[in-house]
Amino acid sequence: SKGTYEFYMLKEIDEQPSVMRKISQTYFDENGAVKVDPQIINSISKADRIYIYAAGTSYHAGLVGKTLLEHYTGIPTEVGLASEAGYHFPMMSKNPFFIFLTQSGETADSRVVLKEVNKRNIPSLTITNVEGSTLSREADYTMLLEAGPEIAVASTKAYTAQIAVQAVLAKALGEALNKEEAKNWNLKHDLAIAAEGMQQLVDSKEKLKEIADKYLINSRNAFYIGRGIDYAVALEGALKLKEVSYIQTEGFAAAELKHGTISLIEKGTPVIALINDPATADLTRGNIQEVVSRGANIITIVGKDFARESDDVVLPEINYYMSALLTVVPAQLLAYYASKDKGLDVDKPRNLAKSVTVE
Ligand code: M6R
Repeated sequence: SKGTYEFYMLKEIDEQPSVMRKISQTYFDENGAVKVDPQIINSISKADRIYIYAAGTSYHAGLVGKTLLEHYTGIPTEVGLASEAGYHFPMMSKNPFFIFLTQSGETADSRVVLKEVNKRNIPSLTITNVEGSTLSREADYTMLLEAGPEIAVASTKAYTAQIAVQAVLAKALGEALNKEEAKNWNLKHDLAIAAEGMQQLVDSKEKLKEIADKYLINSRNAFYIGRGIDYAVALEGALKLKEVSYIQTEGFAAAELKHGTISLIEKGTPVIALINDPATADLTRGNIQEVVSRGANIITIVGKDFARESDDVVLPEINYYMSALLTVVPAQLLAYYASKDKGLDVDKPRNLAKSVTVE
């Protein structure tokens, strides 16, 4: 039930710290060792390439998963939109392994790809929130998100759970493959840091409400920009904001704006910039200057090390590879307040269903 909450979306945003703790309990044993079904690890460790397929928010979680898997396991990983692969199957490596990310486990676009995968006898894993769901039954293996029921149409806690479970997989697989990065990685600690950081962010939600009221609710359009993992989160932040607030929002790789889209920036256009990547932080600050000088209202969501301006929304410190878990929380809150303060039905945006069972 919603309890004292007006909308499920906020309840589900607030539940994210406890989802991180649940994932930690589920996937680590009492000695602190990562715990994933050995059959899954055995099967993926034979792969020369991992293919992640998903839709919507789950696709965005897959983009972060690719970075985690490649960094900690060294296995090249591709991410694709399920709807684009079902009828134009990607070119395969010799030993592919498929991962399906799906909160509901019922998404028709993903089911079509899995059917093709099964026809070709390629091993597969479904990472889902729903035990016994169709994609779980039809794949060889399942890992559960342990996020609890997600009711709001806009996915929030399932996104962060998908990133955390992919991190678990990357850790277990990287250790099995004897990768130094994976062996030296204290993921259990990082999940605890993520839970604490999320708690700080949800506790300071009033600040995001003020920003949404000041810069977003009267705007027709908005942009999210970022590089690296922040680009993946920019896509998710944009989807979240547009689907619940109806403010047309695009997520962009920060440097791409100047290749065309910057012509859309006018006085007062909100641009939300995300900065966590040490390699590109200064460059993104430069891109911010470019839009500010064209009149944009800039909202910056930045890692602790990159805070510079007094109005930066500052994220608690975390391993860059896990930063999406924190960066997305202010983005979710901005979407929530933009929708609610426009008087919209936050949990049931027009034209949308919770699970999309048609192609
Ligand atoms: O159940 P799934 O994760 O497979 O669903 C995928 C998308 O339909 C879903 O993420 C959708 O984009 C949400 N409305 C996003 O908030």
